[in-house]
Amino acid sequence: MAARLMIVSDLDHTMVDHHDPENMSLLRFNALWESNYRHDSLLVFSTGRSPILYKQLRKEKPMLSPDITIMSVGTEITYGDSMLPDNGWVEILNQKWDRNVVTEETSKFTELTLQAETEQRPHKVSFYVDKTKAQAVTKELSDCLEKRGLDVKIIYSGGMDLDILPQGAGKGQALAYLLKKFKTEGIPPVNTLVCGDSGNDAELFSIPDVYGVMVNNAQEELLQWHAENAKGNPNIIHAKERCAAGIIEAIGHFNLGSNSSPRDVANFVECKVDHVNPGFEVVKFYLFYERWRRGEADNCESYLASMEASADPSAIVVFPSGVEKTLRECIHTLKGCYGDQKGKQFRVWVDRVLSTPVGSSTWLVKFDKWELSGNERCCCVTTAKINAKGSGASDGFAWVNVQQKWLEGYEKKDDSTWLF
Ligand code: GLC
Ligand code: MG
Repeated sequence: MAARLMIVSDLDHTMVDHHDPENMSLLRFNALWESNYRHDSLLVFSTGRSPILYKQLRKEKPMLSPDITIMSVGTEITYGDSMLPDNGWVEILNQKWDRNVVTEETSKFTELTLQAETEQRPHKVSFYVDKTKAQAVTKELSDCLEKRGLDVKIIYSGGMDLDILPQGAGKGQALAYLLKKFKTEGIPPVNTLVCGDSGNDAELFSIPDVYGVMVNNAQEELLQWHAENAKGNPNIIHAKERCAAGIIEAIGHFNLGSNSSPRDVANFVECKVDHVNPGFEVVKFYLFYERWRRGEADNCESYLASMEASADPSAIVVFPSGVEKTLRECIHTLKGCYGDQKGKQFRVWVDRVLSTPVGSSTWLVKFDKWELSGNERCCCVTTAKINAKGSGASDGFAWVNVQQKWLEGYEKKDDSTWLF
């Protein structure tokens, strides 16, 4: 199926706000994506980071799992959770590229300081260079490599990073390659939104037929590129909001679908979705659960009461330890935990929400439930059987059974405080 919306987003200072230790805009985006878009849209992360630094960031921040990951400034494309590499892309990049010549020539430039070994990749050689010297060095280097018969692309980002890539590489070219691939398969995305903040994101905005958002905190070099190259383009905005909040703003601005994150809604009953779906029910429940335990829940007693009332007496929850409890017992325990995480770092989010219908009004919803408590981060791969209450999904949902298993490496040490 063609994606309703494909978001292609940079990570550092775009999806991820390094100045927000609470990660609020990222968590707002996550809730919006999993409730409204995960089932029929595509999430693509496009980062300058190598696979090693990318995986490190995923451990530090509450990031979702993307469908496609583009790393090392558009030189490495991988698919799915297993990160299957696109070998066709590698072959294209091998043309007119000789890494040894690049390292040989660059070693003559004293203005260039080599970045960490992890950031040197088969089709990317990266340095640091002083802002005041960047332009001159870029010019000289490009003349020098041209004389050696190489066709390279030199990109300056974040007022400090200088990347040398094959001419056909870069975030923009990688996106063009993906779009072409989808088109050939007969499934071009209905809408594509690109999101970025710095120099290596500029070329994303020059791909035809995409919407673009430069987040509010965008770097000077990107704003300057825009002023010189794309000023009159109504499909590109400079957001009023920072980072992921700017992405949500753009979804609204360009009318690409719902821009109302369940996290922004105090009363869940009022939260509207494009298509009522059981995935939304899961997002809503865990948001309620977070607020309840943080002691921040408004109008939540009635939500809990209705959940308790609609819980089938025979419904059970199987915990990661193998212990089984009835759903009613679990809701009862939760009742007594109001505010037990108050004043502490406590956040909950869900990832990879996937609903499969197993009857006319029943779904199996599989998802990862993440819980950050203090400095400990745990995750359960969860399957919930969920029923539509009335004749249609719009009458609400009732949870039937829940089964959880620890995600390897993310087990909770003391699982007595793990409630759902
Ligand atoms: C990331 C990479 C770095 C690169 C920069 C700009 O920070 O780790 O190697 O130079 O992005 O593209
Ligand atoms: Mg960035």
